[in-house]
Amino acid sequence: MKTYNICLLPGDGIGPEIIAEGVKVLDAVGRKYDVAFNYTEALLGGIAIDETGTALPQETLDVAKASDAVLLAAVGGPKWDTTDPNQPRPEQGLLGIRKELGLYTNLRPVAIFNALASASTLKPEIIDGVDLMIVRELTGGLYFGMRERFYDEEGAGVNGANGQRAYDTLEYREYEIDRIARQAFEAARKRRGKVTSVDKANVLETSRLWREIVHAIHDAEYPDVELEDLLVDNTAMQLINRPADFDVVVTENMFGDILSDEAAQITGSLGMLASASLGDGVALYEPSHGSAPDIAGLGVANPLAQILSVEMMLRYSFDMGAAADDIHRAVTAVLDEGWRTGDIKGPDTPADKVVGTVKMGDLVC
Ligand code: NAI
Ligand code: MG
Repeated sequence: MKTYNICLLPGDGIGPEIIAEGVKVLDAVGRKYDVAFNYTEALLGGIAIDETGTALPQETLDVAKASDAVLLAAVGGPKWDTTDPNQPRPEQGLLGIRKELGLYTNLRPVAIFNALASASTLKPEIIDGVDLMIVRELTGGLYFGMRERFYDEEGAGVNGANGQRAYDTLEYREYEIDRIARQAFEAARKRRGKVTSVDKANVLETSRLWREIVHAIHDAEYPDVELEDLLVDNTAMQLINRPADFDVVVTENMFGDILSDEAAQITGSLGMLASASLGDGVALYEPSHGSAPDIAGLGVANPLAQILSVEMMLRYSFDMGAAADDIHRAVTAVLDEGWRTGDIKGPDTPADKVVGTVKMGDLVC
C-alpha cells in the first residue's frame, strides 16, 4: 500500500477544528483508494509561541521537511498581538516556514459553486462558469528588493517638507521567472490548457524580461498550452468583466498579491478558498482565510476551504487527480443539497440545513 507522510499544523483559533475535518476527508480518500496517510502534528504560530517561545520551532521545521506534504490551518489571534518588535508574532511562523521550504509559487484557485453564486456581488451571468487559478510568484519582486529611506537636499524645504525619500526595487532573475512559468504551464496542463501571463511590459524592464522568458519556455516545452499576455491594469478590469474566460493567470509577486485578493472576491465567500504554496520539494496547503478567533471553539467554523486545500494536496503533491475530483464533487453535492455553515448561509436557508464544522466534514465524507 502506498503511504504518504503528512505534517499537520493546526495553529490557532479555529485551526484545530477545521484541520480535523481535512484529516477526516483524507482518511475517507485513503480507504477508497487504498492509500495510507500518516500524520505528524507540529506546533506553529501562537500555540508554538506559548509552548516554546518561538513561532516556528526547529522541531516543526524538521517534521515538515521530512514529510511528503504539509497541511496548515491558520495562525494568529488577539492573544499574540503586540507592537513590541522584540516579541515573537504568529505570522513569523508562517513566513518562516514558507521561506525555509523554498516555496516560490502560490496557487489560489477561484471557482464558483453554483449553489453559492448569490454570495457574489457580481451578476450571475458574469460569474457563471468561473474556474480560474492565480499563480503568484512568492519570493522575488518588490517585497524582497533593496529598499531604503533617507533624507536628501532635493525636495527639502518644498512646501515645508524636510526631504524624506524612500525607494523599493523590483528585481527578477531569469531562473525565478523560469521556474514560476513552468509551474503555471504544468498547472494549465492539469486544467483547461490556457495561461494568461500578466505583466506591465509597456513600462517595466522586469516585465519585458518576464514576457521573453515565459514565451521562450512556452514555445520550447509547452506549445500545447495556449498562452496570452495581458497588462496588469487591463487584467484588473477583465477579472471582474469576464472572469470565466481565465484559466491559469501567472504573475509576479505584488501583481499576484493584489489580483489574488481581487479574484477571491469574485466568489464572495472567504470560507471556501484554498491555496497551495509550492517549491521544488515539500509543498504546503492551507485555506486562504485566517484563524477566525471570533468563532474559535464554537464548532461553527466552515471547514470547506481546508477540505479544498486537501483536494489541492492530492492533485499537486500526490498526483491523485481522481481523488481530488471526488472531493470537489462531494463539496459541490453537499452545497447543492442545501447544507450550509453559518458563514455561507443565506436569508432563505432553512434552520435545519445550517450545520457545524464536524457535521459539514461528515457530509463531505
Ligand atoms: P479571518 O479570515 O480569520 O476572519 C475574517 C472573518 O471571516 C471573521 O469574521 C471570521 O469569523 C470569518 N471566517 C474566516 N474563516 C472562516 C471560516 N472558515 N468559517 C467561518 N467564518 C470564517 O481574518 P481576520 O479576522 O482578519 O484575522 C484573524 C486572525 O487570523 C489574525 O490574527 C490574523 O493575523 C490571522 N490570519 C492568519 C492567516 C493565515 O494563517 N494564513 C491569514 C489571515 C489572517
Ligand atoms: Mg494580500
